[in-house]
This record gives sequence, C-alpha cells and structure tokens, in this order.
Amino acid sequence: MVDDSGYDRQAADWSARMTASAPGKIILFGEHAVVYGRPALAVPVTEVRATASVQRSTDPGVWLEAPVIGLRAELSCLPQDHPLAAAVRSVFSTLDIETPPDCVIHVDSTIPVASGLGSGAAVSVAVIRALAAYLGHRLPDERVSALAYEIEKLHHGTPSGIDNTVITYAQPVYFVRGQAMERLQVGAPFTLVIGNSGIPAPTKESVGDVRRLWEADPPRWEKVFDQIADIVRRARELIENGAWRGLGKLMDTNHALLQELTVSSEALDRLVEAARRAGALGAKLSGGGRGGNMIALVERQNAPVVAEALLAAGATQTMITQVD
Ligand code: MEV
Repeated sequence: MVDDSGYDRQAADWSARMTASAPGKIILFGEHAVVYGRPALAVPVTEVRATASVQRSTDPGVWLEAPVIGLRAELSCLPQDHPLAAAVRSVFSTLDIETPPDCVIHVDSTIPVASGLGSGAAVSVAVIRALAAYLGHRLPDERVSALAYEIEKLHHGTPSGIDNTVITYAQPVYFVRGQAMERLQVGAPFTLVIGNSGIPAPTKESVGDVRRLWEADPPRWEKVFDQIADIVRRARELIENGAWRGLGKLMDTNHALLQELTVSSEALDRLVEAARRAGALGAKLSGGGRGGNMIALVERQNAPVVAEALLAAGATQTMITQVD
C-alpha cells in the first residue's frame, strides 16, 4: 500500500538496520553577515562525521541513544524542543506516520559540539536520512535540508540555513539566505588547518549578541555586513579561478571585521596570530565565534608546522583538510 507521501508501508523492512552519516562543515567567509541576507561560503569537512543508525527495538517504543551526550530515552519522554527528538518527530510527521514502529535510533558523532563545525546540523541530517530510510523512504536533499533547518531553529533561534545546506549537500556552497543553494566551484584545491580553541561556544549566544548590536545601531552594522559581503564575492572569484593564495588577505580582513562584531575572543585571536607567525597565508575564526574553531590557509607542505604552532598556542585539537 502506497500512501499520499509515497511511503510504501509493506516495502519497509523492520528487520533491516539503516545507517546514514553527515560531515561537519566550516564557514570560509561570511558568518554572521549571512544571517542578515549577505552571501557566505562554506565547505564540508569530511574528516569528522555524525552517524545515525536505526533498527528494530525489542522494547516497545521509539528509543533514542546518543552516548556522547549520555542520552537513552523513549521519544515520548523527551520535550518538544529537544533537538534530537524534534528531528525524529519531524520525519514521522513529514511521512504521515501516526503509529511509528518500535525502533532504536543510535547516534554517534566525532564532530566537537558547539565548536563551529556544524555538529547539530550534521546529527539532524544523519537522523532524518537514516530514519526515513528505515521507514522505506528516500527523502530528496531539499526536503532533508528543510527539515534540518527547522531543528536548527531550536539550536539557535535565527539560523541563516547555511549549516543544514552545506551539510545536507556535502558540497562547497555559495549561500544566500532564502535562495536556492549554489554550488561553489573550486578551480584548484587548497589546504586549511583547523584549530579548536577548546572553548565550547553556543552559536545562539554570539548570534544573539550581534542582533543586539545591530538593533542599537543598524546603519553602522549594515556597513560592516556589506564589507563582509564584498569579501565573500571576491573570495568566490578567487576560488573559482584557482587563485586561492589571494584568500589569505581576505581571511585576515574578514577576521578583523568579526573582531569588530565582538565575536572573536582572546583565545581565537591568539590562535589566528600563531598561525600567521608560523607561515599561514591568512587566518580567521570560523562559525559563531567566541570559542570553537579557527581556520588558517596554508601551503600544503607547511600544514604540519602551522598545526604544531596552533597546539603550542593552546589549541586542543587540529585538523588538516583539503578543499576540492
Ligand atoms: C554558524 O555556523 C554561522 C552563523 O552565521 C549563524 C548562521 O548562519 O546561522 C554564525
């Protein structure tokens, strides 16, 4: 029997185990300004991932297990605004499932939480895809991203939608809020070192603080957002033309504007400085800021030296990633 949503109840195989995973992400340019309609560039980070698997449960109910946050609970015991529970409910609702099958949804993630690497969006995307597959349905990317966007609102109020977009499509993106995703063409691969300040910083707080700044003096901050938008457009051109070395200066300027927006921190500034001194072509914070991660553009052979310098300057973790 196939219902209106295209969901084939008889084809769904409750004994099968369905697994899906989603990468982390970094914002190359344009964070915060993107919330105010300016463009931003983001790329997936495949070195870290969130994974969800769904299988039949011997206990009645829909069970959620996420050992990294110490969660094991039945769906009906979790509040409406619990992001993981909301992701599960959104799948049942979009597929018109009134009586869900007994199942266990297990979530694992190697993406550091509250660090600007998109862990919340990656968990949502993995859960949505795995659960839909378990229910015998393959949701199109557009629908997955739209459902994950609703969960992003629980994480941080007024998200631009960039995290769920880059993570769902797992491709470099040029993103403008409310517009269809544009793929960012990468003319020549380039290397980034990612440094984690080790300070968890919920995006909700920095986004809220920028909102308060903007409300107090819109013309001043609109000008800053316009300057960031200009950087994003120039960066896109350089990336598409394979002229990636020019991105270093743009990163430095973008970081200075983020400092002006008050979303950097002593720890992030120290890491950015350390990367530059170790030979990075440019560096900036990435994501919500205050804590979390920063990125440095490097010549490939210089990546280990910059990573070492970041650790010496207090980074708790580094990652070398290639954008291509
Ligand atoms: C978070 O990854 C990026 C921000 O611009 C917030 C958003 O776009 O929703 C800080």
